[in-house]
Amino acid sequence: MKAAVLTEQPGDLVIEDLTIDRPGPGEVLIQTVGAGLCHSDLHFMEGLFRTTLPIVMGHESAGIVQAVGDDVTYVKPGDHVVACLSIFCGQCHQCLSGHPNRCANPKATSRAKDAPARLTRADGTAVDQMARLGGFAEEMLVHQNGLVKVIEEMPLEKACLIGCGITTGFGAAVRTANVQVGTTVCVIGAGGIGLAAIQGARIAGANKIIVVDVSSAKLEMAGQLGGTHFVNASETDDVVGEVKEISGGGVDYSFEAIGKSQTVRQAFDMLAMGGTATVIGMVPSKDVVELRGIDFLQEKKLQGSMMGSNQFRTDIPRMIEMYLDGRLLLDEMVSATIDLDAVNDGYEMMKRGEVARTVITFD
Ligand SMILES: NC(=O)c1ccc[n+]([C@@H]2O[C@H](COP(=O)([O-])OP(=O)(O)OC[C@H]3O[C@@H](n4cnc5c(N)ncnc54)[C@H](O)[C@@H]3O)[C@@H](O)[C@H]2O)c1
Ligand SMILES: [Zn+2]
Ligand SMILES: [Zn+2]
Repeated sequence: MKAAVLTEQPGDLVIEDLTIDRPGPGEVLIQTVGAGLCHSDLHFMEGLFRTTLPIVMGHESAGIVQAVGDDVTYVKPGDHVVACLSIFCGQCHQCLSGHPNRCANPKATSRAKDAPARLTRADGTAVDQMARLGGFAEEMLVHQNGLVKVIEEMPLEKACLIGCGITTGFGAAVRTANVQVGTTVCVIGAGGIGLAAIQGARIAGANKIIVVDVSSAKLEMAGQLGGTHFVNASETDDVVGEVKEISGGGVDYSFEAIGKSQTVRQAFDMLAMGGTATVIGMVPSKDVVELRGIDFLQEKKLQGSMMGSNQFRTDIPRMIEMYLDGRLLLDEMVSATIDLDAVNDGYEMMKRGEVARTVITFD
């Protein structure tokens, strides 16, 4: 089966023909139907974060179950599923205390180190899977606890976006930050993740949703999805001052959806007293964020969010209902649909800031 493989860092993806194993205990073989391009993969392609190589990239995919391992009871062949990298064991202290997105026992849902690899090249080399999913591939072999069943009415080439981007952005607003009705929100960065955070804030009932981006096209898109006020960061050197002016002194919630220490600092500095800044972006591991200590006297808070603090087996079906009843807008977030062969072009478009989400579809 064809898959997009990262073979060096930094590097582009290479389309290779790989062999995929049969499902072992707890595993499910999926025919991929849609795969979204998330910026996290690009961070790895650019070498900002280290990974084992070679590795099939992609972690935002949906498809149809082809075959299941002996003891799999959750799904059966023919079921439609969305994959999520928050693969939970269901038994560790994080899973059992209501935080399966932080599962502390990935071993329980992975193959043993000495077991045959899920993916191999013709010469027998093992090929890893990004986030244990490897979603830029015609087929995926995934642990059942990384999957949620979805109703067939839901188009899979839209459902895939919920697997990472929507769950992350929407969840950051609704779950991690718990945005309250009537409040003021600012989202910095209106890519796939930021646009989902904007939608979360809109559905949670925020009054003002201020959006900051360097691209006017992105700001326009943000306006269709719930943004109410806009700051083009390429046209001002005082983003914080502008947001404070629009919000009348500072926002209740801010979200950083880019992954830069400079914009994390902006997210914190634009808070009203008692406000909460939530960092969603992946800030490069060596980067340091500096804050003024005195600001903590104003009860300002700074927190991280991993995959929107999701409980994806309950969250994703709810988000699908919101899409089907017209409240969660996904069609508007797909800027381009491409073949697997064009995955590097898709990432070039992301680098140029031209797209919200690009989706790979498979015939
Ligand atoms: N926390 C998590 O669990 C999680 C999950 C998925 C993705 N992420 C991270 O979220 C971040 C965003 O991902 P994405 O797929 O939406 O990326 P994206 O490239 O689609 O969007 C980033 C947006 O930021 C804008 N931007 C860039 N520099 C800016 C600046 N200085 N000021 C204002 N806007 C600026 C770009 O124009 C673009 O619209 C990435 O760092 C990604 O790795 C985190
Ligand atoms: Zn992602
Ligand atoms: Zn666990």
